[in-house]
Amino acid sequence: MFYEPDKKNHGLAHTPYKSCIVPRPIGWISTISKNGKINLAPYSQFNNLGFEPGYLCFSGGRQSPDSHIKDSVINAEETGGFVYNMATYELREKVNLSAQITDSDIDEMRALGLTPGNSRLVKAPFVVESPINIECVYYTTLTLPGNDFKTNHDVVIGRVVGVHIKDEYIDSDGKIDILKIRPLARLGYEDYTSVESLFSMKLNGPSSDFLSYGLHGG
Ligand SMILES: Cc1cc2nc3c(=O)[nH]c(=O)nc-3n(C[C@H](O)[C@H](O)[C@H](O)COP(=O)(O)O)c2cc1C
Repeated sequence: MFYEPDKKNHGLAHTPYKSCIVPRPIGWISTISKNGKINLAPYSQFNNLGFEPGYLCFSGGRQSPDSHIKDSVINAEETGGFVYNMATYELREKVNLSAQITDSDIDEMRALGLTPGNSRLVKAPFVVESPINIECVYYTTLTLPGNDFKTNHDVVIGRVVGVHIKDEYIDSDGKIDILKIRPLARLGYEDYTSVESLFSMKLNGPSSDFLSYGLHGG
């Protein structure tokens, strides 16, 4: 099949697009407002950009009817940073619930029974219960046009300045034990997955620029 998203002519009972780019890692983003309120929300429009230095981005879709900008976006801009907390299978219910609290006066971590940890390099606290937390200093916001201005996407980019990894998730080879963590990812519709298997591949034979990017670029 072929369809053009602008024409919505897929003919299916459910829009397939969100299931075409999967699995999407979930950035569980913690921020703090200029009034000191802690905010926590999941973002699957989220990823890493580059490694030296690393940048993380998440995209907040403005919401109709008033084109409300997501609190995570406003807080990252106003207080200069955010923290990525890894969403896991064990934390899945709290991840989901954290999307439903929209009152910016509520301290979302405490409301969900989560513990705020003091970040070292940014004001936003991290989620202690999450196995990996990455502190990011706000870099910029890229606003992508939506179909109308009310649905613009605000892509927040932060520079990675600090990485916390719980020691219990580092294995005897010095690698992060992904299968023990079971990171959560989104599949479109109301579907999710978590990492329950992995395989490795080595690059063999003569290297080319392309291959060596694969080897070193990750
Ligand atoms: C798993 C999951 C992923 C989500 N991803 C996004 C996303 O990438 N962008 C977005 O704007 N909203 C996303 N949402 C919805 C937001 O989490 C929700 O609007 C939340 O209330 C925003 O909170 P904030 O205004 O405190 O930042 C997602 C929800 C769930 C459950």
